[in-house]
Amino acid sequence: MSVFIEKTDTLRGEVNIPGDKSVSHRALILGALAEGDTRLHHFLKAQDCIDTIKCLQVLGISIEEDEQDIIVHGKGLYGLSEPGRVLDVGNSGTTLRLFPGILAAQNFVSEISGDNSLLRRPVDQFLAPVMEMGAIISFKQDNNCPPLVILPSDIHGIFYDSPIASAQVKSSILFTALYADSPTTIIEPYQSRNHTELLLEAFGAHLDCTPLSIVIKPAGQLTGCELTVPGDISSAAYFITAALITKDSKITLRGVGMNPTRNGFIDVILSMGADVEILNVKSGLEPTADLIVTSSSLHGVTLSGEIIPRTLDEIPILMVLSCFAEGITVIRDNGELRLKESSRIDVTAENLRKMGANITATGDSIVIEGGHPLHGAIIGTKYDHRVAMSFAIAALGATGKTELIGSECVNISYPGFYDTLKSLFPA
Ligand code: S3P
Repeated sequence: MSVFIEKTDTLRGEVNIPGDKSVSHRALILGALAEGDTRLHHFLKAQDCIDTIKCLQVLGISIEEDEQDIIVHGKGLYGLSEPGRVLDVGNSGTTLRLFPGILAAQNFVSEISGDNSLLRRPVDQFLAPVMEMGAIISFKQDNNCPPLVILPSDIHGIFYDSPIASAQVKSSILFTALYADSPTTIIEPYQSRNHTELLLEAFGAHLDCTPLSIVIKPAGQLTGCELTVPGDISSAAYFITAALITKDSKITLRGVGMNPTRNGFIDVILSMGADVEILNVKSGLEPTADLIVTSSSLHGVTLSGEIIPRTLDEIPILMVLSCFAEGITVIRDNGELRLKESSRIDVTAENLRKMGANITATGDSIVIEGGHPLHGAIIGTKYDHRVAMSFAIAALGATGKTELIGSECVNISYPGFYDTLKSLFPA
């Protein structure tokens, strides 16, 4: 399916930012492993999280939905039942990474598979520590990619000095560590998003955290709880960019997640000269705020090191934004992005070049010379939701018409994205 988007100068209105995808996945899984019920407000009902729900249901967990909330009826750490079929995680790399250690600790054999894109994503890097902990996992094919077969295993605590700052690697170890016979320590080179740590504490697990280290004790049990999922900063980033790059825009985004380990995008755009007011800061499981974003003149910046894991999923939209900033933007240390839903950097760079941008992407470094006017083009999204949303926004600042091929992939993280974008156009 294609959508067509044309240039616009003005955006006005408000958006309630949908729930955070990373938090929604984790809260569902921990709810299933807890004793008693867990009620989730502002859960993200997008395809990736629905796939996690379906996998948990195949594992015998009952999950209900009422008008506002999702209710997970937890069955305890060892309460999952043998699935009668393969667990299909669809496109969700997060679900794939969070499940193996938990499944290895159960007393049955299981198999995890997913869609064609997922079957091409190597997983040896995150499986290595989980297997060091004792999980017995094998690849069905000889390619380090799913499908995975997981056997009942005895789990041990480890000391893991991670070579990369990856929340998925860290979280797969933390979930496995719940079942270990001794504590586990994880060290990161930079701090990755800490949603898992915050949620584990909310469910009653015992962790000792500093910015770059975590010690987790095996959990006797987790206890169900009531939680509000913050708005997803990664989803907000598209609308923020839309307002910044169009000429005469002012929009309000409500309930944006402001976890400091995750909101590097806000720090980056402020350093580029963006006009963003941060209001109504609220605390909770994670802090949230309302943002008022106004069209701005931006300048290029150089990004590397600790900021990269804090703005990882926003790099494609930052590449778009940088095309509208004066001067050069350099983004380093992002080799990890080649392992996402698509080779995101290459796909984004290639499509931006089609629109007239001056951009090079080599090794793990991206260089963008801003200020070259963009024009409409036919964009291949490679069925990557973050690429599709980034180019829906690029199209707003490009002359003529842009066609997004495979536009429906936005449903993976943001159903209703195009309607929400349209609602900001002047009547
Ligand atoms: C995620 C972590 C990030 C991110 C992904 C979701 C998570 O990956 O890119 O979309 O939910 O933990 P890393 O494991 O590379 O940090």
